[in-house]
Amino acid sequence: MSERLLEVTDLRTTFRTVTGAVPAVGGVSFDLHGNETLGIVGESGSGKTVLARTIMGLQPRTNVEVTGSVLLNGHQVVGASERTMRTMWATEVAMVFQDPMTSLNPVMRIGRQIDETLRVRLGMDRHAARARAIELLTMVGIPSAQSRYRAYPTELSGGMRQRVVIATALACSPKLIIADEPTTGLDVTIQAQILNLLDSLKEQLSMSVILITHDLGVVATRATRIIVMYAGQIVEMGDTRDVFFHHRMPYTRALLDSSPKVTNAPHTRLAVIPGRPPNLSTPQPGCAFAPRCAYATERCHVEAPTLVDASAPGHRFACWNPLPETSDREAR
Ligand SMILES: Nc1ncnc2c1ncn2[C@@H]1O[C@H](COP(=O)(O)OP(=O)(O)O)[C@@H](O)[C@H]1O
Ligand code: SF4
Ligand SMILES: [Mg+2]
Repeated sequence: MSERLLEVTDLRTTFRTVTGAVPAVGGVSFDLHGNETLGIVGESGSGKTVLARTIMGLQPRTNVEVTGSVLLNGHQVVGASERTMRTMWATEVAMVFQDPMTSLNPVMRIGRQIDETLRVRLGMDRHAARARAIELLTMVGIPSAQSRYRAYPTELSGGMRQRVVIATALACSPKLIIADEPTTGLDVTIQAQILNLLDSLKEQLSMSVILITHDLGVVATRATRIIVMYAGQIVEMGDTRDVFFHHRMPYTRALLDSSPKVTNAPHTRLAVIPGRPPNLSTPQPGCAFAPRCAYATERCHVEAPTLVDASAPGHRFACWNPLPETSDREAR
């Protein structure tokens, strides 16, 4: 595996709100190698989007405090000016958001939106940008790219729009794509097509991908490593196989139980994790998962566990009462 593309160290993003400080990302450290797919998984509200936006240097500057370090291809993102970040957006890192319409201008033809990125960021002339935009639309599987170049976003289906967003993200050949729930809201067949597209583009263009999702099933076959987040922190991380078959943290188990499996009969009811994620503006002592955890003991309510090494290299978990080490758990 190639050298480190991204090194995140003790990253903290805290919002100052009228009701108090919200530590949305509370001390996160991990790294990412070139040509790797990393999955980041957690329920809604666990801090995935805030983490992604902080890595991109996209957080607003007012009422937000960011500390720690994000080294992207050797460049420090934390504290970087917007001007510096502009040189990194598109060429080093690009983001694909959940809703394609947040990235697309509804009143501009899709081809022109890609052209503009190429002209502004890479200084291409009009003809070169147009040719490249059509090439990119073809690469992401848009049929009749030449004529679709002139379409407006609203004339395309949700899946096709997300392909356009991916084409725009790829325009300046970034080394890293962060895809934040890129298929939520699309129907199942289209979801698989978009995820397969990201996979094949990653191989073709030797990029790295951070794939963010609330569904462990989405990253099962696509990520080399997985990070599980809860209440703004990493609670388990490791090679995909270790997280699926040798997880130690009860929350990872609960997430797996609530994720659709290929082996489920149609319409099977999924287990739901009881209770709700904590309110981050009123921090409680101890393990953030304690109020919902079937394994919680007294210690869990007073002292927060930190990440410790499991037996496999790179596999880490934070729990006082971990699930026993096993040979492979039941296939999921
Ligand atoms: N601008 C903001 N101001 C205050 N709190 C915020 C803001 N953005 C996000 N949060 C809070 O940060 C936490 C993490 O949110 P988010 O990263 O969107 O979760 P996820 O993407 O995992 O669903 C949530 O509790 C959310 O309410
Ligand atoms: S530390 Fe305690 S509450 Fe937290 S996951 Fe482990 S057993 Fe459950
Ligand atoms: Mg999110």
